[in-house]
This record gives sequence, C-alpha cells and structure tokens, in this order.
Amino acid sequence: MKSKQYSPNETVAWRNLEALAQDSTKTTIADLFKSETDRTEKMSVEIGGIVLDFSKNLVSQDVLTELMALVDESNLETHRDAMFAGESINSTEDRAVLHAALRAEPEDANTPQEKERNRLVKTQLDHVREVSEKIRSGGWQGSTGKSITDIVNIGIGGSDLGPKLACNGLAEFAHPDINIHFISNVDGAEILTTLAKLNPETTLITVASKTFTTQETLLNAKTAINWFETKLGLLSAQSSPHFIALTANRDNAVSYGIPESQILEFAEWVGGRYSLWSSIGLSIAISIGFERFSDMLAGAREMDLHFRTAPIDQNMPVIMAVLGIWYTNFLNAQSSAVIPYCERLLLLPSYLQQLDMESNGKSTTLEGEPVSYNTGPILWGQTGTNGQHAFFQLLHQGTRLVPIDFIAAVNDNLSNKEHHRVLLGNMLGQSSALMMGQPAPKNQPYRFYEGNKPSNTLLMNSLSAKNFGALVALYEHKVFVQGSLWNINSFDQWGVELGKKMANELLDAEHSDGNLDPSTKRLFNYIDSNSL
Ligand code: F6P
Repeated sequence: MKSKQYSPNETVAWRNLEALAQDSTKTTIADLFKSETDRTEKMSVEIGGIVLDFSKNLVSQDVLTELMALVDESNLETHRDAMFAGESINSTEDRAVLHAALRAEPEDANTPQEKERNRLVKTQLDHVREVSEKIRSGGWQGSTGKSITDIVNIGIGGSDLGPKLACNGLAEFAHPDINIHFISNVDGAEILTTLAKLNPETTLITVASKTFTTQETLLNAKTAINWFETKLGLLSAQSSPHFIALTANRDNAVSYGIPESQILEFAEWVGGRYSLWSSIGLSIAISIGFERFSDMLAGAREMDLHFRTAPIDQNMPVIMAVLGIWYTNFLNAQSSAVIPYCERLLLLPSYLQQLDMESNGKSTTLEGEPVSYNTGPILWGQTGTNGQHAFFQLLHQGTRLVPIDFIAAVNDNLSNKEHHRVLLGNMLGQSSALMMGQPAPKNQPYRFYEGNKPSNTLLMNSLSAKNFGALVALYEHKVFVQGSLWNINSFDQWGVELGKKMANELLDAEHSDGNLDPSTKRLFNYIDSNSL
C-alpha cells in the first residue's frame, strides 16, 4: 500500500474546518433550511432499499465541501483499494482485512488470488448451507436419534453479537420449530439457567470462536459438555453430534475433540467483529434459512459496491463518517447515539459498540505515534420509543452535543398500520423537535428547548435480510472511513489484552498475592474470605 505521509490535523481542510467550527454557532440547522430551499433533496442518498437523510445535521454546504476536501487529502482511496485487494492493512497483526470477500460474487474476483479466495469462501459457505439445511429439515439428529429443536451458540464479542443481532433483527423469518439461544458471558448463571430449560436430546451447541482460545467460550463449552455427559451419559460429548465448532483455528477445534466434519471453518483474514458473514453466522442460516442468509450477504455486497464506486459526496458510508468527524473533532462531541425505532434492532447499539469502539478506540497512529486529535466517540443507544421515556430528556435539554442516527423500517409485517404509524410518527417528531427546539413560555425557563440538535435518519423500505445486510455493511464502511481519516489501525484490538492477562494472573493462585496493586489485592481477599 503506497500511502502518502498524512496527519489529518495538518491538512488544509482541517484548518478550514476549524475556522468554520468557530462560526458554526452563529447559524442553526433551522436557518440552513431557510437559506437552502433544496437542502432535503441535496442531502439525501439512496442505495438499494436504504435512504439516508442527512439534512438535519449542523453542517452548511461550506462545511460539507471542506469535509470532502479532508477526504481528498487523506489516504482513504488507497486504504480502501488496499483492503479490497487483500493487502495486509492490519499492520500490527500482519493480516489482510477481507470480510467483504465473504459476500463477493464470482464476477467481483479478477486476479488469480481473488478467484482462489472466492472458491475458498464458496466451499466454506457451502458447508454452512449443507449443515444449516440438515438441521432445519430435521435430518441432523442428536445422539438419541432426535431432531434438533434448540441451538445454543456459545461465543463472545464478534462470535456472539453479529449472529445475535441478525437472529433478533430477522425474527420475522425465523424457523418456527427451532429456537436459537446465545450464551456469551462467563457468568455461570447465564448458561446454567439456559441449559436447565432445554432437552439435551434435541439441543445442539455451536462453539463459535475465531481463535478457539477464548476463556469465556471454552469454559461455557466445558459446562455444556458436562451437562450432556451427565444428562445423556455420553463420553466426550464434544465428539457427539451435539457439538459444532465455528472457527478459523481448525487445529484447536480438532484438539478439543470436535469431529472434523463438524468444524465449519473461516479464514483468518476475517476479523472477529466482522465475522457474522462467515460460518460464525451458522445460527443465522439455521434461523432464517440459507437463501435469506445469502440475501443478507447480497445486501452487504450492494453496499460494498456502492462504497467502492460512488463519488465521495454521494457515498453513504463516507458521508456518515465525515459527519461523525465534524462532531468529534470540530464540535467536540464526546459520544454518538444510535436509536432504532424497531424493537427487533434492540441489539444494534451493542453490536455497533464493538464494531466502532473496538475498531476506532485507538490513540496510536499507523506510524506508531500518539494521535494529537480525538478518535472514536463513545457509541450508545437504545430503541425508540423506549429511549424517549428514559434518556431523551438529556438529548433535548442537557448540556451535551450528541449526534444521533435514527433508524427505522417504513413497512413492518410483524406490526400493524396503527402501531407502525405511531412508532414512525414518534421518530420523526423527536428528530424534528431536537432540531427545531422551542422558546420558553413566559416565566417558564425550564420549558426552553434549545434545538439545533443534529441527527441522521436512515429509512429501510422494510427490515428484509438484504436491507439488514446493507445496513450493517454501511456501518462497517463508515467505521473504516473514520479510521482511515484518523490514520489509525481499525482492525486490531490490543486494548483488550492487558485486562485479560491481569485476570488470568489474578486467577492463578501463585500470583494472586504477588504483584497486585493494593486496592485489587484487598478486593480479591474480600471476595475470597466472603465467598460461601
Ligand atoms: O477480546 C476481544 C476479542 O478478540 C474480539 O475481537 C472477538 O470478537 C472476541 O474477543 C472473541 O474472540 P474469539 O472469536 O476468538 O473467541
């Protein structure tokens, strides 16, 4: 990858944006609407079944022009092409970043390497198809000859959040006779209470772990193995038809005792938080069927093609990324909120927390220098209308700037017209109220709504598998663009290592009294001496 020497805050566009930010308090979004009669039309992009209206943002056309100039001065195009070409852009782990290859069609592969990769992905996804269809049709039987009614996916982080989000989000299409459960936390109460409700004869465990080394996942898997052995009298339950491994580390899964034919592999160039498109998504394919799983991939591919080819000022991920940069780096926003008006997308904020904060929660540049500007914001959220009755108070009248993404589906087959109209009316009412505000009535200063609070609105025509795939890929690329503009590596996660190491040291009896800081030592001793 031939990137030019680049630091975002040394560009001309950055300086211009700083100057524009000084002036930005003089204008309101409402004023911008008055002076730009075609603002809504101009600031709206549609791709496939998704529309982004970004007109309710605190940006003038001058700001947008400079944000696009910032992109021009960056290495984005080089980075993007290097990612899709399979270069090792994850420099600290010397890895390619090719989750987009999981949704590529044969015609997207031009070079011999791309064709080879495409064949590999097809083989791996064919395995997902074969296994998911066998389970869905009742042909996959447990050790006593019964078909599967319950899948328990044991995995954490990317091996949990993506599949869980997709299975919930696409519940409209769920198999009527197969329930999918997700166990992630090492908190034993989670797995023990889940297993207690299940029949081991008809339960299948998918152990989802890219590395097949993750403490939480392996302990939960061990508990599940013990459960099968106790309940069904099996020896080495992990070798029975009740266990499937989803992993990029075949050797570890084999050593664990999972039969080769029950290991569904994916490539190590798929990052954990980008792995729902791979065999980690088996639970999704079991739930909604492989055809719909393929629709999800097709929606993501549509977003990939858009990201690769659309001009930057019409490019949905680029637009969302630069707006985020405007708020983070120029208007000093510390967080951003994602508020889906769709209860089935309740887990979207959690999913995006890993995607965004594990990717862009970095403070070292690609050259290994400390950054001298803010990077990824704190992402949070909840569904509407629930959030309206909880934290919206702060959004309307608090002191903080929180740019919001409102997300909704125009049509919902699981709802009815009356509910859906009220739901969507609330979303638009909130985004409008946040932007327009309202003066305080006489002698009632507490009823003042400042307004001028920015938001994006993303509308899908429905929450189909295809639109869902496109929506997730949109955020993947948004995060990529921001990481590239901030000149950081969005694909490693060294920040999580130290805590894991400390926990292991602490659990290791030999160290527990050794190098611990006084507070931790005291707390640990307190737990030890008070546990029953
Ligand atoms: O600790 C963070 C992390 O590495 C995530 O990036 C990943 O999604 C998660 O742990 C689980 O890892 P694995 O799939 O290897 O079990």
